[in-house]
Amino acid sequence: MSDNTPSTSRRRFLSGAGLAAAGLVAGKASAQTAPKPDPAIVNIPDWSKNLGEGVQARPYGSPSKFEKSTIRRDVEWLTVSRESSVNFTPLHALDSFITPSGLAFERHHGGAPDVDPGQYRLMINGLVDKPLVFTLEDLKRMPGRTNRAYFLECAANSGMEWKGAQLNGCQFTHGMIHNVWYTGVPLKALLDEAGVKTNGKWLLAEGADASGMSRSIPIEKAMKDCLVAWGMNGEMLRPEQGYPVRLVVPGWEGNMWVKWLRRLEVGDQPWHHREETSKYTDLLADGRSRRFTWIMDAKSVVTNPSPQAPLKVKGANVLSGVAWSGRGTIKRVDVSLDGGRNWATARIDGPALPLSMTRFYFDFDWDGRELLVQSRAMDDTGYVQPTKNELRKVRGLNSIYHNNGIQTWLVRANGETENVEIS
Ligand code: MTE
Ligand code: CO
Repeated sequence: MSDNTPSTSRRRFLSGAGLAAAGLVAGKASAQTAPKPDPAIVNIPDWSKNLGEGVQARPYGSPSKFEKSTIRRDVEWLTVSRESSVNFTPLHALDSFITPSGLAFERHHGGAPDVDPGQYRLMINGLVDKPLVFTLEDLKRMPGRTNRAYFLECAANSGMEWKGAQLNGCQFTHGMIHNVWYTGVPLKALLDEAGVKTNGKWLLAEGADASGMSRSIPIEKAMKDCLVAWGMNGEMLRPEQGYPVRLVVPGWEGNMWVKWLRRLEVGDQPWHHREETSKYTDLLADGRSRRFTWIMDAKSVVTNPSPQAPLKVKGANVLSGVAWSGRGTIKRVDVSLDGGRNWATARIDGPALPLSMTRFYFDFDWDGRELLVQSRAMDDTGYVQPTKNELRKVRGLNSIYHNNGIQTWLVRANGETENVEIS
């Protein structure tokens, strides 16, 4: 083996210069050149000297106390009450493509109720041959149980950004999204059991919370891929995510994913309830509103660097982010470091599943120059994520919902990162 093979030179580094630099080889380096020993290496820490916690110290596990800043956060001035409000997923502190259950953003209009699973009931009524009432146990005995990862994005995600850069952090600009594994049964199985009449074209899904939230869903979607789910990341749903049962409406706006699901009514036309008229519709420049906008179009965001996760050192850095599309599978994500002049294709890693969040990486060297960082998602239908100005050209300035425009982060020479918009 010649002397300059990687393994030999690495061994040399470890036995010589490396250990000296770490302060472990006494007397080898002269007093003037010896770097200060790193106390984290020379001092034996307490955790190596004492026994750690025994089993059962935490019967239900929680993160390390050093991770206590990785939490959902809210923006107090955004809503008048905490019960009809939202908090945000800390996207900048997460990796991979699954959102841990305790960090999945919550959005509710009447607080999160504590539903007793023993008293839980789901009713199907309306234009059906046989109205039915299911208990939770009945649902779990249904055939066709399935596990699927899907993103849920609130239609209002990035809504504050429609008129320009507002909130300083991807947690706040893009954190009304989560991506978890659901366990449940296809909604079709329940509807088939009830027998949808031939004039049954729409479904009203209604929640058991104080807001009694309800949405109309076309029967084709209900039959295609919706789930009635009780599981989230392998365990029961969390109360704030709809325990014990929520509706999963893959790729469609989060508002339709009714939590604490108590009733499904089959009808022959949409109900036009509050959440699908005065809310969640897009007001256009000429004063008319789009009637329904169900599908969440392809979108992406760079999570690192971002305002809450600035660049710390020059040289090798890893840019990372997430992309998703309500129309299908993410096929490609491009990133730009100069505000969209030049683009490079990022590396997609981990499962790229349909209607699920997809993780991308771009390894780069930072020379300390100012950067304008962007990402642009493309899905398997050929749809390309637009710029914010392209969206505004079509939709005007009245919009709040369905903002999937390209996000820009300005990285300053000192690494600090800011939410900006370039025209
Ligand atoms: N379902 C009920 N019953 N009540 C609600 O307030 N909020 C909706 C939807 N389902 C809501 C609901 C909205 S607007 C969104 S974005 C999603 O739930 C949020 O789901 P999450 O709390 O799991 O993030
Ligand atoms: Co919402």
